[in-house]
Amino acid sequence: MSKIICADALDGLKTISSESVDMCVTSPPYYGLRDYGVSGQVGIEQTPEAYIARLTDIFSEVRRVLKKDGTLWVNIGDSYAGSGKGPMTISANGKNKDVFDMQNRIYEVPKTWEGIKPKDLIGIPWMLAFSLRSSGWYLRSDIIWHKLNCLPESVKDRPTKTYEHIFLLSKSPKYYYDYKAIQEPLKQVSKERYKRGRADKSKYYGENMRQGINKQHEDFSEFDQEYRRKRDVWEISTNTYKMDEHFAMYPEKLVEPCILAGSRVGGTVLDPFFGSGTTGAVAKRLGREYIGIDINSRYCGKAQMRIEKVAVA
Ligand SMILES: C[S@@+](CC[C@H](N)C(=O)[O-])C[C@H]1O[C@@H](n2cnc3c(N)ncnc32)[C@H](O)[C@@H]1O
Repeated sequence: MSKIICADALDGLKTISSESVDMCVTSPPYYGLRDYGVSGQVGIEQTPEAYIARLTDIFSEVRRVLKKDGTLWVNIGDSYAGSGKGPMTISANGKNKDVFDMQNRIYEVPKTWEGIKPKDLIGIPWMLAFSLRSSGWYLRSDIIWHKLNCLPESVKDRPTKTYEHIFLLSKSPKYYYDYKAIQEPLKQVSKERYKRGRADKSKYYGENMRQGINKQHEDFSEFDQEYRRKRDVWEISTNTYKMDEHFAMYPEKLVEPCILAGSRVGGTVLDPFFGSGTTGAVAKRLGREYIGIDINSRYCGKAQMRIEKVAVA
């Protein structure tokens, strides 16, 4: 049964039975980036390490509720240290600190930490990936979400950032992954190249097969098809769905392949940082159940209204 739990992620997860969920796809609050206006929110911890530790605890609880063959897909972006121009700034009044007032409580988030200099990219995505791996997850893929319409940046001393990560992790070494559900059409030019390769036993087929170079490359069956296995760079524009006041929605097109590959029709998809309910909207459209958790009750209500309007495809 689909439901939205309006609570802190860890508390909400504790109410879910063990091994009852097929997959989880989510986008946690990024470190030091936004104020979601609720006390207890993730993303305003005093150090990157504390943020990573908190997320790792939450995702350990996700692992408990996942079925043995379940997967976790985490969309995560990076943050920079120390410029004092951090995006979280609401009213900065301290050196190297973002300070903001939330429900009459003042929060101060440092902008530099030991070993991380001002202007350094913190490396949050890989800190999280390694921490999750150490906590027992199998780290299976680093998918790059290449944002086709990324926002321009004012910085002039580095390239503009155009991507975020989606890590695919699994609870067990063998897990449910329906590669056929997310295959990509082969371009005509590739079909012709592969055919040529097979005919003259050239590098695309013959050489690798003869030499048995790499077990993974022995399966050339995709070359006989109209489709190829999905690649790990996904080119998707940033959000299309507009919901007033929620400012960090991920696009439905980003969630779609995760749900198609990670669950069967009728399965249950979990998102412990539900926000505007994108995961629930896509899950419903694709004939899956969903469980969403969010700490902000206003978002829970809005997500519910959004999902009610979604028709099953
Ligand atoms: C990046 S947004 C998720 C957006 C969502 N993927 C969407 O498409 O709308 C992160 C969400 O996490 C929620 N959040 C922050 N701290 C939380 C916590 N401790 N427990 C549960 N939710 C939390 C915020 O309210 C926010 O809605």
